[in-house]
Amino acid sequence: MTQDTTPQVLLNPEFHVGPDLAGWYAVGGGDGLRTAMADPKACLTMIEASGLRGMGGAGFPTSRKWGMLADRDAADKVIICNGNEDEPGTFKDRVLLETSPHQVIEGGLIAALATGANYLYYYINPHHMKGLAAMRRALEQWLVDDLFQDMQKALGKSMHIYVVESSGLYIGGEETAVISSIEGGFPFPRVKPPFPVESGLFGKPTIINNVETLSNVSHILRNGADWYQNLGIGKAAGTKLYSLSGDVLRPGLYELPMGTSLHDLVFIHGGGMLLGKEFKAVFTGGPSNTLLTKKDLDVAMDFDSVRERNSRLGTGAMIVISEGTSIVRKVTEYMDFFAKGSCGQCPPCKSGTFQIARILERFSTGDSTESDLAALENLCKILPGCGRCALIDGAVTVVESSLETFRDEYLAGIQRS
Ligand SMILES: Cc1cc2nc3c(=O)[nH]c(=O)nc-3n(C[C@H](O)[C@H](O)[C@H](O)COP(=O)(O)O)c2cc1C
Ligand code: SF4
Repeated sequence: MTQDTTPQVLLNPEFHVGPDLAGWYAVGGGDGLRTAMADPKACLTMIEASGLRGMGGAGFPTSRKWGMLADRDAADKVIICNGNEDEPGTFKDRVLLETSPHQVIEGGLIAALATGANYLYYYINPHHMKGLAAMRRALEQWLVDDLFQDMQKALGKSMHIYVVESSGLYIGGEETAVISSIEGGFPFPRVKPPFPVESGLFGKPTIINNVETLSNVSHILRNGADWYQNLGIGKAAGTKLYSLSGDVLRPGLYELPMGTSLHDLVFIHGGGMLLGKEFKAVFTGGPSNTLLTKKDLDVAMDFDSVRERNSRLGTGAMIVISEGTSIVRKVTEYMDFFAKGSCGQCPPCKSGTFQIARILERFSTGDSTESDLAALENLCKILPGCGRCALIDGAVTVVESSLETFRDEYLAGIQRS
């Protein structure tokens, strides 16, 4: 499929009306919510049939998450829309928040109807100033709109909606850190169980959904589950926002059918490699996953297919590296990011990520020794699973993957010293 025939849903310029609610209604906005209001119970079935999955990284089926909240018997239930987006290479949610805030808000209101939630938080990184401002202006309009009043009648209780600022720290995007942060504390991830759906924000049953996930919802309600399912390639459903960056001619944000091949993203949509260089590797979705290399160019970029290659689609971020660029240098850069981003609650994570970052720095500068290599390999063995959250595991995965696939670069670092 070429760029011209690619379906544009979330990035369709028609829907990019900014905070203008009348403009959103003029392009069919509100229809999805009306469908949900007519039969709130049917929403879950529809979202399940559509195959929508969480776009925040894990690809967890959205209907299952919503179903768990719907099943809770509680007076107050909470949905949090996660717009923290702070990792290297991912730049999709900020675009959605800024260009189409009503798309995000309507998705949240439908999710509330489907689950019986009466609290809705939009948790946004304050560094994305335009997105934050657009969401605030958009929300002001919803709160006095007739459709919102009708929605509350359909829900059977008052709906409380807030736009709140995150800390702007990477760790603040982890789901239990989101909760700590909104409660007013430092965004420290919490031990699970209890899971947020059991005891989340202020002890209330809570689910967290990514901005891109919720942005799809009004379109599914409006156009049907089959329409969404058929947007994807093969078994994959819907479209995906791929944040393409690195050594490509046309870096940028691409909305393509879920399951588009890595080759097509890089060489057709991205215009190929910069300066005609050879493709070497891609840091996917984070960059906290196993590196994809030339042999993976044919991989369909959907959650399951990337998993089959032992990696993860994550957020859909693809950081492309060309031959001639040092993988060790790039991994060092990302490890530095993880070490600085560690919240420090779990000593193995705080000291382990700093230790790995220091060792990698020596490889980058050619000052490493054989024992550095052994220490690196040992840390990669002992650290996974030692933390409260997935930061430590992601950081180790990328180092381990580079050691396995680009070992020659590490060995060259030793030989120079
Ligand atoms: C360290 C860390 C940072 C994260 N940052 C984000 C983030 O900025 N935005 C996001 O949606 N999910 C982030 N996640 C994933 C969330 O914990 C959560 O799984 C996600 O918001 C769920 O939404 P979804 O089901 O719609 O994908 C992060 C996870 C970890 C471990
Ligand atoms: S694993 Fe690291 S980032 Fe996660 S809670 Fe522990 S110290 Fe914090």
